[in-house]
Amino acid sequence: MTGRCEPAAGRRGSLRLDGIAELVTNAPAVGGRAVGDPAAGVVPLGLVRDAALVFDGDRVVYAGPRRGAPDADDRVDLGGRAVLPGFVDSHAHLVFAGDRAAEFTARMAGDPYTAGGIHTTVAATRAAPDDVLRANVATLVAEALRQGTTTIECKSGYGLTVPDEARSLRIAAELTEETTFLGAHVVPAGTDPDAYVDTVRGPMLAACAPYARWVDVFCETGAFDADQTRAILDAAVRAGLTPRLHASQLGPGPGVRIAVEYGAASADHCTHLTASDVDALAGSGTVATLLPAAEFCTRSPYADARRLLAAGATVALATDCNPGTSYTTSIPFCIALAVRELRMTPAEAVWAATAGGARALRRDDIGRLAVGARADAVVLDAPSHTYLAYRPGMPHIAAVWRAGQPA
Ligand code: NIG
Ligand code: FE
Repeated sequence: MTGRCEPAAGRRGSLRLDGIAELVTNAPAVGGRAVGDPAAGVVPLGLVRDAALVFDGDRVVYAGPRRGAPDADDRVDLGGRAVLPGFVDSHAHLVFAGDRAAEFTARMAGDPYTAGGIHTTVAATRAAPDDVLRANVATLVAEALRQGTTTIECKSGYGLTVPDEARSLRIAAELTEETTFLGAHVVPAGTDPDAYVDTVRGPMLAACAPYARWVDVFCETGAFDADQTRAILDAAVRAGLTPRLHASQLGPGPGVRIAVEYGAASADHCTHLTASDVDALAGSGTVATLLPAAEFCTRSPYADARRLLAAGATVALATDCNPGTSYTTSIPFCIALAVRELRMTPAEAVWAATAGGARALRRDDIGRLAVGARADAVVLDAPSHTYLAYRPGMPHIAAVWRAGQPA
């Protein structure tokens, strides 16, 4: 690698990124090569060595070998660095106030995680003015972008009243198009569970649906059971939202089965799967989204990624950023954890955090670098994607473009 990598700000027209040692396209037809552990299958990273990438406006117009790349209005020499599709973080809870550092400290001293901590954040979130919540979300989205995340999903779930859930989603929708109604996060303290489910699928859904693309339910012992989950999903699907579920985070349960039954885009966490859960995911269009930073921050057992991959399930990696179980926006950290603790290959982990995340959001314009895709790219201060896990904790992100603009 040579020199520094300086994207020009306020750019218009076309731009050619040159001097790319390794380009991850996630488009095998471009790179024509698969990498990974031959024993565990291959990953279609579509790698191109000595590559160029050309943007025109907000789109990719060329991704391939440097020889043969078209000219462009501007050119940046990346000096032998690796370029990846922008990371797609398909699971985050960004609308909240306050923190839970004391809970984390107690947990690291031996306390178990319980969903009850959510109430602490609900109280702080309800008490916060709109501009504080808005600034908090903006700070986290900007922090994620600096670390290469060019698309981020954002859930409500720390309001748990009709007005507080609606404002959470209104604020989230100002910063991302991937918004998820999670009124069914926990039953608020002092509320009858059946009455709360009726509120969630009635007036709360009506107030939130205009700002949400997705609906999520924390389907878990201590949160919402199978019948409650189905009742909420039925109403939300009628309102035009597509399901994604928190499933089998703290123990085995019906969440994965329900996710597959409802054609959910994703079943998230998947930490305690049964054999039939794995088979159901593998035979479905529902992505298994793994969140190893949550297990790291709660000192819990990790999900069995190898079992899911061996069965043929589609796996995504996301941060689960929230103040209780995973207070990080760093996809590079999640990739390093996935490689070390989930035994994914670096190629599998990178694919899961880019193309996998895009599949979990049912998007085909992101998570890949090929003609027609959105011009979202991450430049590493390293010659290959492997360095994200090989040099964990290092400041790898040299530059980020989102929709063709330097971030
Ligand atoms: O994904 N499991 C449900 N929701 C979050 C945790 C929320 C919290 O503890 O504040 C999660 O881990
Ligand atoms: Fe979550």
